[in-house]
Amino acid sequence: MHEITRLGIAEMDGKIPPIPRGYSILLAGPSGSGKTIFGLHFLYGSATKYGERGIYISLRDLPQEVRRKAASIGFNISNLEGEGKIILVDGVSSRIGLDSSEKFFLLEPTYGEILRTIRDVIDEYEKLDRVVIDPISVIFKGRKDLGKVLDLVLSLSSLGITSLFISFQDDRPILGYVFNGVIELENLENGTRRIVIRKMEGLRIRTPVAYPYEIYRGIGIKLVERGIETEREGGIV
Ligand SMILES: Nc1ncnc2c1ncn2[C@@H]1O[C@H](COP(=O)(O)OP(=O)(O)OP(=O)(O)O)[C@@H](O)[C@H]1O
Ligand SMILES: [Mg+2]
Repeated sequence: MHEITRLGIAEMDGKIPPIPRGYSILLAGPSGSGKTIFGLHFLYGSATKYGERGIYISLRDLPQEVRRKAASIGFNISNLEGEGKIILVDGVSSRIGLDSSEKFFLLEPTYGEILRTIRDVIDEYEKLDRVVIDPISVIFKGRKDLGKVLDLVLSLSSLGITSLFISFQDDRPILGYVFNGVIELENLENGTRRIVIRKMEGLRIRTPVAYPYEIYRGIGIKLVERGIETEREGGIV
């Protein structure tokens, strides 16, 4: 088993050194900034490039909506789902009183139920490399929940599962403490977008550092050349 992995997002892998397996990352940003697309890219890239198995725990969108988003961005996940390389976990249906048609679903949206479902997936497939939770903000009730998020993050880490937790912008200042890495997506006033890497514990990368990005069909998240902007160097703030 490899001790390190990469994000699986092409140009970002050229900017961020390899990350240890079990590393935890918080991805925050406003609505429409591309968090869900980033999460899908994180799983799609690692499945297609590194053969990793990942699960997508959707707490906001029904699985069909996640599939539709993946298709709209040009990620063909149906083959990967068939191979068990990408597994969608339905965290929505039971909450709204529907029977889930997915193999894996949460009975209720709780931290314990998320971990139980992850264990079910491991029992079924033996090996699980990554988890995306989109968004943790649906169940995160502020500082009093910090310990529960930390327990979940540490449990995943101890299982060697690399995790990406997606959150709303408001939760980032509190949640950030719990994760090894913090990445923020920003929509700027001038219509451009940028990724800000705020923290990457234990990696040789100076933070904060910001990269302009765009979202393209067939690619997903793509860094674009507008020069590297860092806050310390007085770039766009
Ligand atoms: N096929 C596409 N080609 C280019 N851009 C796209 C495409 N599909 C979506 N987008 C862009 O991605 C954005 C939506 O991304 P996404 O759903 O990942 O946002 P989000 O941060 O998860 O939002 P929310 O917080 O509401 O869930 C849209 O605003 C649009 O600009
Ligand atoms: Mg989203």
